[in-house]
Amino acid sequence: MRASDSLEHILVVQGDITRQDVDAIVNAANESLLGGSGVDGAIHQAAGPELLAECRRLGGCSTGQAKITQGYNLPAQWVIHTVGPVWRGGQHHEDERLASCYQSSLTLAVEYKIRTLAFPAISTGVYGFPLERATRIAIATVNVFLDQSSVIEQVRFVCFGDEAYEGYQSVLADTFGNSR
Ligand code: APR
Repeated sequence: MRASDSLEHILVVQGDITRQDVDAIVNAANESLLGGSGVDGAIHQAAGPELLAECRRLGGCSTGQAKITQGYNLPAQWVIHTVGPVWRGGQHHEDERLASCYQSSLTLAVEYKIRTLAFPAISTGVYGFPLERATRIAIATVNVFLDQSSVIEQVRFVCFGDEAYEGYQSVLADTFGNSR
């Protein structure tokens, strides 16, 4: 699949990831997988208490890795929980660890024959990762993965605010030119 083909499979939307009608949504979790604030809090709130009960049985998740659960009361059938790096200035392998979150989540999605998937802007909230830098990593990593995989039909980047939405749009335009 050529890079420009990948573009057909990438969508940037503004909104709430818990309302996305896709096969799986990705949660920006912490290593305990026992919930939190931000998108983690929103997903647990929307999914209901059974999500936490299943998460308790997973034994946590390392940074850069991903684990999957049912979606319960969410429109999405699955939740892929991944743990982004905390931003510590950029000299502690943060870029690689963030890329690994996207790769691990996509790999799990392929394993579970998930065709449509929604990502939040992992690590750019509580974990303080600079938004534009994280956006470039997210789009580049997903683009490379989609070039090599035909299982996934659509990846949505769900931006919660204007800044993220405009950031993703401009990085996408940079990456693919204005061939939309
Ligand atoms: N839908 C989509 N995006 C959202 C939503 C939502 N409902 N709520 C928040 N976001 C966005 C934030 O605006 C930010 O851009 O998700 C991005 C990630 O922010 P966080 O949720 O703070 O996640 P992160 O920076 O990865 O920090 C993870 O925060 O909630 C805790 O338990 C979590 O300890 C972990 C840490």
